[in-house]
Amino acid sequence: MDSLRVQDWIVAVILAFLVGQALTRPRFARQASLEGIEDPEAARAYDRVSRTPQFRLIRRMVARELRRLKPESPIVDVGCGPGYLVAVLAREFPDEQIIGVDLSEEMTQVAAANMAALGLGRTRFVRGDAAGLPFADGSVGFIVSTLSLHHWSDPAAVFREFHRALKPGGRFLVFDVRRDALNLFYWLFAFARRVFLPKGLRRLNEPTGSALASYVPSEIEEMMEASPFTEWMVRRGAFWTMTIGRK
Ligand SMILES: C[S@@+](CC[C@H](N)C(=O)[O-])C[C@H]1O[C@@H](n2cnc3c(N)ncnc32)[C@H](O)[C@@H]1O
Repeated sequence: MDSLRVQDWIVAVILAFLVGQALTRPRFARQASLEGIEDPEAARAYDRVSRTPQFRLIRRMVARELRRLKPESPIVDVGCGPGYLVAVLAREFPDEQIIGVDLSEEMTQVAAANMAALGLGRTRFVRGDAAGLPFADGSVGFIVSTLSLHHWSDPAAVFREFHRALKPGGRFLVFDVRRDALNLFYWLFAFARRVFLPKGLRRLNEPTGSALASYVPSEIEEMMEASPFTEWMVRRGAFWTMTIGRK
């Protein structure tokens, strides 16, 4: 065996090891350390990153699923952040009433300003807690929520609240990252943090912090089993979960 072949073997073994690692799912314990996302600097920084292609891709995925589910009005986006999913939904479902709810006053203001700039003033944003939605019993047609589940201090209470607020037959879709995302995504998150992330979010260890605070599919299944919903499913992706249920 000449020295070149030895080098080829070494490179091949290293590559195989890296590919194997990239496609492995880590087993991290959950670390809910996201206090601070509500501060004004973080809200503005999050507004900027929300316009990047990765976030658009997530909104496109969710909108595609919603088209399939044919949501009834009013559609409520819980933990709407700067409101870009509300904008997508307002365009996608022009006849439906779309309302964004967020715990952070700063976020609802950023969202309302964004919608005004996009000419989507008919959308509405209210400050509210996912665990105590500002809607009467059985009055909401559809609840959607993206990248917010890992922030909720009591997700079980939130799912009970969704059940209370939804109309009979109303549905919800909750999209989030998953803590057992393939290692590849943790590498990409670390890269994004160094290269793209605005300072206001880097301080919060984002996006790795969100992934570490998120749930693995079996934990979401346990939440759903303990919830009043009887019809639900947890779909799984390489770095995400999508939980869909019906009242
Ligand atoms: C990471 S951002 C996601 C924003 C947006 N949904 C998106 O996909 O880009 C999480 C949002 O959830 C909001 N949030 C956190 N806890 C909440 C709660 N208990 N009730 C309502 N909103 C909450 C935060 O204020 C923040 O705007």
